[in-house]
Amino acid sequence: MYNLLKGKRGIITGALDENSIAWKVAEKAHEEGAEFVLTNAPIAMRMGEIDKLAEKTNSQIIPADATSVEDLTNLYIKSQEILGGKIDFVLHSIGMSVNIRKKIPYTELNYDYFQKGIDVSALSFHKMLAVAKKLDAINEGGSVVALSYMAAQRTYPFYTDMADIKAMLESIARSFGYHYGIEKKVRINTVSQSPTKTTAGTGVKGFGDFYDFADAVSPLGNADAASCADYCITLFSDLTRMVTMQNLFHDGGYSSTGVSDEVLTRLGVDPQP
Ligand SMILES: NC(=O)c1ccc[n+]([C@@H]2O[C@H](COP(=O)([O-])OP(=O)(O)OC[C@H]3O[C@@H](n4cnc5c(N)ncnc54)[C@H](O)[C@@H]3O)[C@@H](O)[C@H]2O)c1
Repeated sequence: MYNLLKGKRGIITGALDENSIAWKVAEKAHEEGAEFVLTNAPIAMRMGEIDKLAEKTNSQIIPADATSVEDLTNLYIKSQEILGGKIDFVLHSIGMSVNIRKKIPYTELNYDYFQKGIDVSALSFHKMLAVAKKLDAINEGGSVVALSYMAAQRTYPFYTDMADIKAMLESIARSFGYHYGIEKKVRINTVSQSPTKTTAGTGVKGFGDFYDFADAVSPLGNADAASCADYCITLFSDLTRMVTMQNLFHDGGYSSTGVSDEVLTRLGVDPQP
């Protein structure tokens, strides 16, 4: 514990159950002295898990569908009332693709589902930023982080439309980061995370095999949800106050590794020169 977020107020989206990356971020933010509001889609509330997290972190829950500007407006207004001032950090940890859920191949995408995926997983980020800016709800120097995946840069066939959607998410971080940076010095970044065993992650076809592959490629192994949370905490802290408009890989070195000895050995190739 370093008290990195002492006195800071936040909004954390996307904690569905204890495997969620957002769940770990909330636990760590609490440990680091932050006060925050938890939010998720009204439908996710019915599962009741988030109540446990709220109790554990002494926080309140405000339901909000991240595709609804009205819900997001209410979220920022109520959060400021509950926390007693402007917001210092926001975590966008929201992803959903009906095409992935229904195992539809990339070349045969259903466009209604595609649009729904864009709305939930990328435009929701723009909306969260635009509503905050309009209400002037984020303090100067505040930090906003969204979670992404490397399929935004390289092709992973099983990730289908979410690859394109994550590319858009990362672009929104850059574009909005420019405007919000100039106006209020608000920082906006995406963290590109290793495959992680969560509800959204394991919903991807062949996730288990790919998880093992990525683990074998990465010199440090796959980064887990708890270490992703640690990284997000540093980005919410004042220690990273000049970092903005970046897509930051948090993946144990995966994105810089071509092939590893372990993968070669598994393929029956002797890795020694
Ligand atoms: N798990 C992985 O392998 C992995 C890897 C890289 C990036 N990510 C990203 O991390 C983020 C969090 O996912 P996770 O892996 O913790 O899974 P998760 O399933 O625990 O979290 C996804 C969350 O999105 C919420 N959500 C869906 N629709 C919503 C809506 N309309 N409004 C508000 N919230 C909504 C869900 O209720 C859920 O809490 C996502 O953006 C995901 O793409 C995940």
